[in-house]
Amino acid sequence: MRPLVAHIDLDALRHNYRLACACAPQSQSVAVIKADAYGHGAVACAQALESKALESQVPAFAVACLEEAMVLRDAGIQTPIVLLEGIFSADELPYVDKHRLWMAIHSGWQLDALQAFTPSAPIPVWLKVDSGMHRLGFAPEQAVSVWRTLEAMPEVSALHLMSHFATADAMDTGYFSQQMATLKALAAELDAPLCLANSPATLARPEAHGAWNRPGVMLYGSDPLEAPTKFTRQLQPVMTLRSEIIALREVDVGEPVGYGGRWRAARRSRIAVIAAGYGDGYDRHAVDGTPVLVNGKRAALAGKVSMDMLTVDVTDIPSAAIGSEVVLWGKSHNGEVLSIDEVARHCDTISYTLLTGVLPRVPRHYAGV
Ligand SMILES: Cc1ncc(COP(=O)(O)O)c(C=O)c1O
Repeated sequence: MRPLVAHIDLDALRHNYRLACACAPQSQSVAVIKADAYGHGAVACAQALESKALESQVPAFAVACLEEAMVLRDAGIQTPIVLLEGIFSADELPYVDKHRLWMAIHSGWQLDALQAFTPSAPIPVWLKVDSGMHRLGFAPEQAVSVWRTLEAMPEVSALHLMSHFATADAMDTGYFSQQMATLKALAAELDAPLCLANSPATLARPEAHGAWNRPGVMLYGSDPLEAPTKFTRQLQPVMTLRSEIIALREVDVGEPVGYGGRWRAARRSRIAVIAAGYGDGYDRHAVDGTPVLVNGKRAALAGKVSMDMLTVDVTDIPSAAIGSEVVLWGKSHNGEVLSIDEVARHCDTISYTLLTGVLPRVPRHYAGV
């Protein structure tokens, strides 16, 4: 068997969820498990968060669309599920009703569709306001009349005001404060309960904590903040992308390694070939020097990532041998952690793309079920 596996630690997922709740004890924390729980497997993660191993039940899950919600319902997940982008067409409403889903409303046509529909029970609705992200949502001026309309509709229950931050992760809080001011004014006018905080706001912006928060990436152990805090240091990696050395060779000074000969040996070097490549979702943009753990010790990528393999300079790790453990991100057998955020910085990307980019050919193995 090819040795590359994504190990998913469900105890770490529960630990991170508890941390999200501890950061915002006055809020209910919806667990964001869209995009197949950021690549971790939505059903397994939902089951882990529904299990008795978590002392307080997760009050709701959030997904992007009906299809993602249906996968969870088909697997027997009973917890409320909110559709963060609501419906994509009016014919989804009978399913929203039948499967007891909650929905965001971000556009006039969604409001019209709901008005024309008679559900068997009122549908919980989160009205999405564009407070500055300029992606989805009603402008604050429009939101007042839409709120009043929704409030008066018997088809609607548990109405909340929802918005999303563009810069909650940044050290410069200027634009975040501007969005907060808009939302505070609107919430005061409407006397509306709020659902605003994503992971960075859950971790570091208590003023954004509302009736509900929506932590996502932090549940998987990634630190979304530009500057770490005492909370982010407590996050535990949920996914460990682990493989092995499948070949070793020595190269002389000046010899190139891999496509295009990007890396050249500055000294006589020992190069390990690892079973993992961009065909598995490991980012091809990884630069020379991107860290990996070999037998729990840090080593550096040497040469461009290939489809099924990558190459690492293990000159300084004499114990490296065929079959040695290689961690691309996550936790090594000796307890050493390689943060996915550090790897992402070497790929000029973010942990979100690395996690959601791990391809189906990489088997997921679960612990803590
Ligand atoms: C509307 C909405 N809420 C919450 C989240 C969770 O964000 P994060 O993963 O940064 O916590 C996302 C993620 O993209 C989102 O789109």
